[in-house]
Amino acid sequence: MSESPIIQELETIRDAGLSALTNLNIEEELQAWRTTHLGRSAPVMLVFQKLGKLSAEERPLVGQAANQVKVALETAFNERFAAIKEKALAQAVASEKLDVTLPGRPIVHGRLHPDTQILRELYRIFGEMGFQVYRSREVETDEYNFQLLNFAIGHPARDMQDTYFVEAGERGDNPIVMRTHTSPGQVHAMQEASATNPLNPPPVRIVLPGMCYRYEQTDARHETQFDQIEGLAVGPGITFTNLKGTLSDLARRLFGQQVRTRFRASFFPFTEPSAEFDVECFLCGGKGCAVCGGGWLEIGGCGMVHPNVLRNGGYDPEHYSGFAFGLGPQRIAMLRYGINDIRYFWENDLRFLEQF
Ligand code: DAH
Repeated sequence: MSESPIIQELETIRDAGLSALTNLNIEEELQAWRTTHLGRSAPVMLVFQKLGKLSAEERPLVGQAANQVKVALETAFNERFAAIKEKALAQAVASEKLDVTLPGRPIVHGRLHPDTQILRELYRIFGEMGFQVYRSREVETDEYNFQLLNFAIGHPARDMQDTYFVEAGERGDNPIVMRTHTSPGQVHAMQEASATNPLNPPPVRIVLPGMCYRYEQTDARHETQFDQIEGLAVGPGITFTNLKGTLSDLARRLFGQQVRTRFRASFFPFTEPSAEFDVECFLCGGKGCAVCGGGWLEIGGCGMVHPNVLRNGGYDPEHYSGFAFGLGPQRIAMLRYGINDIRYFWENDLRFLEQF
């Protein structure tokens, strides 16, 4: 069968289409090519429209040939389209400039609050010295917070401890208070221990950590809510020397062998004699600054347990003696880390907390 002119025309259409395609590299051009070569008025489509006018003999041949051209053009288009897409993807990956030698993004770790850290350190140190941790209640009665600690009703020493009252009215002289110090735990602990053997109560060596509350004007050294860690050692023959040794050793373990400390005579109703325990201020090197005042930072009170308090705990002061101390862990943390304002502790400012 001789080549009909239409068949030849189809070959030209195909060749023109394929050669126009080879130079195209971007998607927009490709879409334009598709409209020109495969769209409704593309040359190959016009051939389909002319089929009806052809002889019955010629029609199937031309139809088949036109179809082959259309399929060839479509196949070429799809291949080209896929190639362009692949190239674009490769370029996108390359332009991300993935540098596998860069350090990874840091993972933010949670951490313990500086107060928790210092408390745990204190538990460890006191644990090594033989003290057990004893936990006592934060809500107390006036009786335990004051009376059993030898604060008489109306005693002026109560003024030092501006108290939050939880429930007063009905309870007369024994209102319920937020504990103003951890000292009431001393009485609970002694009563508990002496109850096990009232005639010959066992020795006590404990530390009592916990929150205390005072209705106070806040400043760089005072907060309305703060921690204390109370210590109590009761037994036969305990002396003030034991107290001095224990606290001096504590200071050396916390701040190093060279640290200077001092005991200053003081007054607390529940100890006799009483003292305050100071550590040289690290912030100013003992010169005096806004935090310490005069170069020393008071980290707690201490003394020999008053006979009345021993008695209230079930210990006969004729046969037993004891020492007690109450420390401010936050004061210790301030010295240790150079924190110049106690109010940072509960502010929850991450810029502060993230430093520990
Ligand atoms: N409870 C006293 C306060 O908060 C601190 C204190 C002083 C505790 C002397 C003691 C002590 O155990 O012996 O002011």
